Amino acid sequence: MRKYIIAGNWKMNKLPSETYDFVKEIAKVTEGATCEVVCCTPYVCLTEAVKAAEGTHVKIGAENLHFEDKGAFTGEVSADMLKDIKVDYVIIGHSERRQYFAETDETVNKKTIKALEKGLIPIVCVGESLEEREAGITMDLIAIQIKKAFANIEAEDAKKVVIAYEPIWAIGTGKTATAEQAEEVCKGIREILAELYCEKCAEEFVIQYGGSMNDQNAAELLAKPNIDGGLIGGASLVAEKFAPIVKAAK
Ligand code: PGA
Repeated sequence: MRKYIIAGNWKMNKLPSETYDFVKEIAKVTEGATCEVVCCTPYVCLTEAVKAAEGTHVKIGAENLHFEDKGAFTGEVSADMLKDIKVDYVIIGHSERRQYFAETDETVNKKTIKALEKGLIPIVCVGESLEEREAGITMDLIAIQIKKAFANIEAEDAKKVVIAYEPIWAIGTGKTATAEQAEEVCKGIREILAELYCEKCAEEFVIQYGGSMNDQNAAELLAKPNIDGGLIGGASLVAEKFAPIVKAAK
C-alpha cells in the first residue's frame, strides 16, 4: 500500500517571520491526517519551519539544492546543509526552475543522486507544456524526463523518490488537468518505471499530481488509482485551503 503525500510548495512566498506560526497552523488544521503532510519552504524559512514542525506530524522540505557537496558555488545550498537543519524533503526540477534557472534533465539527475546519497527525499517534477500536449508528444517527453532523472539510480534508491507530475499549463493558472488526463500520465509514468526497474518496484513509487490542485478538485484527482498525492502551490499558502486537500487524501 502506498502512502499519500500532500506537499505544499510555497515558492517565493511567506517571510521567515511568518513561518513559525503558519507551520503551527498547518499542523493544527491537518491534525489526524492519514497521509504525509509536507511544507516545502524558501531556504531562509527552513529553520523556523523545522522548529515549528518538531513534535508534530508535519515534515519540512526545501525547494531546491545544489548537486555538489561544497565549494565555490556562490549563493547555492548543499544537501549536507539541508540535512544539518533537519530538512526531510527537497523539490527537484520544478518547471519554474527548468524555465527560469536553466535546470536540465542532467542537473535534475545529479541533484536526485545527491539528495538520495545524503538521505533527503527528492520530489522530482516532470511535466509538459501546452504546445507539447497539443503536439501529442506528452508521454514521449515525460518518458525522457523520467529516464534521465533516474539515470544511474538503482531500484532500492529509486523507490524513495517521489515523482510529481505537473503539466506546466496547469501550474498557477487555475486550469487543472482533468482527473482522467492526470491519471493517464501518472499511469504512464508507472509503466515507464516498470520498464526501468520492475513491475513490483513501480507499484511502490509515490506519484503526485500538481497544477492548480485545490479543495474543489482534490478528491476526484486523488481517487484515481495512480495518483498518490499532490504538490500544491497556491492552495498551500492558506491553511483553510490546504487542509481540505489533506483531508481528501485518504
Ligand atoms: P499551483 O502550483 O498549485 O499554484 O498550480 C503547483 C506547483 O507549481 O507545484
